[in-house]
Amino acid sequence: SFVVTENCIKCKYTDCVDVCPVDCFHEGPNFLVIDPDECIDCTLCEPECPANAIYSEDEVPADQKDFIKLNADLAKVWPSITEVKPATADADAWKGKPGKRDLLEK
Ligand code: SF4
Ligand code: F3S
Repeated sequence: SFVVTENCIKCKYTDCVDVCPVDCFHEGPNFLVIDPDECIDCTLCEPECPANAIYSEDEVPADQKDFIKLNADLAKVWPSITEVKPATADADAWKGKPGKRDLLEK
């Protein structure tokens, strides 16, 4: 499946949601995750993310492998999101900033 990683945190642009044919994104306070049981590996979401936060599971950077389990776990408890909504107010300021993982709200 595909995996949402650290760069989404505090940005949440939601462009990814618009292209997913199986509606497998789930939404938390400042981050989105992909349900690995629903994702059909269509690849459409990956280029849509302005923060380049989405990777194929086998291409997730070494220091972000824990996001694979995080997506699976949080997809079970967070509600589904199927429509684009405005990004966080300061998304552009947070885009690409390192060390955001401690800011993930659950
Ligand atoms: Fe949805 Fe396709 Fe992205 Fe999987 S790869 S989350 S099916 S858009
Ligand atoms: Fe997050 Fe990128 Fe989607 S910032 S909400 S993964 S478009």
